Amino acid sequence: LQADADSVLIGSIDQGTGSSRFLVFSSSTGALITYHQEEVDIIYPRNGWAEANPDQLVQSVLSCISSAVSNLAALGIAANRIGCIGIANQRETLVAWDRRTGEPVHPAILWLDARTEQTVERLIATTRSRSAAEFRSICGLPITTYFTGVKIRWLLDNVPAARELQSSGNLMMGTVDTWLLYKLTGEYATDVTNASRTMLLDLATCQWDPRLCRFFGLDQKMLPKVCSSAELFGRISVADCPLAGVPITGILGDQQAALVGQGCLESGDTKNTYGSGCFMLCNTGLSPVVSSSGLLTTVAYQLGRSAAPVYALEGSVAVAGTAIRWLRDSLGIVGSVAETETLAGKVPDTAGCYFVPAFNGLYCPYWRSDARGLIVGLTGATSREHLCRAALEAVCYQSRELLDCMETECGTTLNRIKVDGGMTSNRLLMQLQADLAGVTVVRPEMAETTALGAAVAAAWGHGIDMTASVRQSSVTEFYPMTGPVDRLRKFQRWLDAVQRSIGWHR
Ligand code: G3P
Repeated sequence: LQADADSVLIGSIDQGTGSSRFLVFSSSTGALITYHQEEVDIIYPRNGWAEANPDQLVQSVLSCISSAVSNLAALGIAANRIGCIGIANQRETLVAWDRRTGEPVHPAILWLDARTEQTVERLIATTRSRSAAEFRSICGLPITTYFTGVKIRWLLDNVPAARELQSSGNLMMGTVDTWLLYKLTGEYATDVTNASRTMLLDLATCQWDPRLCRFFGLDQKMLPKVCSSAELFGRISVADCPLAGVPITGILGDQQAALVGQGCLESGDTKNTYGSGCFMLCNTGLSPVVSSSGLLTTVAYQLGRSAAPVYALEGSVAVAGTAIRWLRDSLGIVGSVAETETLAGKVPDTAGCYFVPAFNGLYCPYWRSDARGLIVGLTGATSREHLCRAALEAVCYQSRELLDCMETECGTTLNRIKVDGGMTSNRLLMQLQADLAGVTVVRPEMAETTALGAAVAAAWGHGIDMTASVRQSSVTEFYPMTGPVDRLRKFQRWLDAVQRSIGWHR
């Protein structure tokens, strides 16, 4: 693709759980000009723990920027046409570092890490209601292992170096956006969508909440400044970065970025992203809707300081793509993630095999950290093809559960879902999703919706309206090909398998 001659280009950092990417878009058409991607390591030091190396996150981003800029040069496009940069990032993951040195005090604790199970129990026991839902009306989230505030409490309770830095006023911490922003520009801030995943934000004021900070034992002054999703956050100050001096003008949590990139800008618009987990977000407009069925209330975006924040209901599934990566890296039964499509396509069904990938407990709608993964229904005839298919079906069943919650909560029937994310290139997965949920699955031609959403926010913060580029006309649709009786029977078997996974980790 060529960049139209004069348009400003927008850079987009997409730092996810499994990879870092840097993409370059045309601000006038939204077309993707070039990109570079690198995998990042997920470290599993103990059962239920999941970490990343904070320096690798930064280095991989810088390396992606350099490679993408080289790609631009090869296309004859000057890097100085990139007017601004946006960040979309894995959310909830905690990075803490020393103000004096900028050195991390601990590996990044990934969002899916379940080490805080006991911290959660202890925290719940100190609430007035003795319930995980104590603060839902303030921050929209239940007290679970998923959210950053709980991880901060664990860090302060278990890592003496972090505690000492806290006492001396030298502890800095935040989600991955804050870490990247600090390392790339020297600024200490976060955007409101990332802040809404910490359990420390008051959804009504979009500022840190003193009651929640007190509950988690934090001094509010230690936290980064909460900004909107589209404003000047800082300029790249890494001397040998080819984009030094370019402003970062947009930040969105990656799932909120995908919502924007899918053009879900009206109340009721819904999308499902298939990444390391699955994340279904429904735009609920200007008012936060508190869920009664296990969904999360979150900030969807705030385009500019003076703009009103827009909210969303979210259903999160902890393990989707990670289950496929597990088939490759831990079981070694597939050579590549892409191969699952061919393998699973060789069998007509799973031969009664169900795989519940509750590696770190179950998120929406169960919120059970005592669940663990299981595979049931095995016989001597079960093959790796069946296992691959069961892994793909697990992604679809979990998404169907999110869909059912969304329908109950919103009081509408969702007959069509917009999808995106790396796994959506798997056509079999898309067809299975349509069959197992009984919905039309709508996949846009331009799959880079997360990065596009961050680019839209950055452009907005730079004074350019790119929102027209997210209204994609070119889509592929997958229609359900199975009947309701078969669909219901299979789904009930799935629910049965899920119940068996709950309580396994005692
Ligand atoms: O909440 C976690 C989510 O942001 C992770 O996203 O893209 O790394 O699967 P991703």
